[in-house]
Amino acid sequence: MNHALLIQWSDVNSSGIPIIDDQHQGIVSVINSLAYFVRQNKGEYFLNTAFAMMDSYSKLHFTTEEDLLRAAGYAHLADHQRLHGNLVRESFFKASESFRLHDPRIYLDFLKNWWVDHINVQDQKFAETVGRYVASLPS
Ligand SMILES: [Fe+2]
Repeated sequence: MNHALLIQWSDVNSSGIPIIDDQHQGIVSVINSLAYFVRQNKGEYFLNTAFAMMDSYSKLHFTTEEDLLRAAGYAHLADHQRLHGNLVRESFFKASESFRLHDPRIYLDFLKNWWVDHINVQDQKFAETVGRYVASLPS
């Protein structure tokens, strides 16, 4: 069996903000675990757990991120919040479709595409502003 991780974390994924990068790695870990089970044809069995973990972890992470964006005075907070809201809704629909069609790859592909783009493109947009803010805080 191929044991390579679906998403390999590397420096290009990093925002430079410790708590954000740590949580992003947690999210990637859940996606990689779902991929691991899908490869063993056990994805459907794990789908419910993966959805529950992604749902609660996303909420925790989005609250962390949005609080930081607000505190740092990031100008595009509302746009970024909209992206987060879309994920919560789309994740529910894709997971439901996955359950209905007995195909865990639908949910897995969606998670991989959404999160890789979000981490590497969308979250990089605030990295400088929030990074400067976080660096200015007392340790
Ligand atoms: Fe984000």
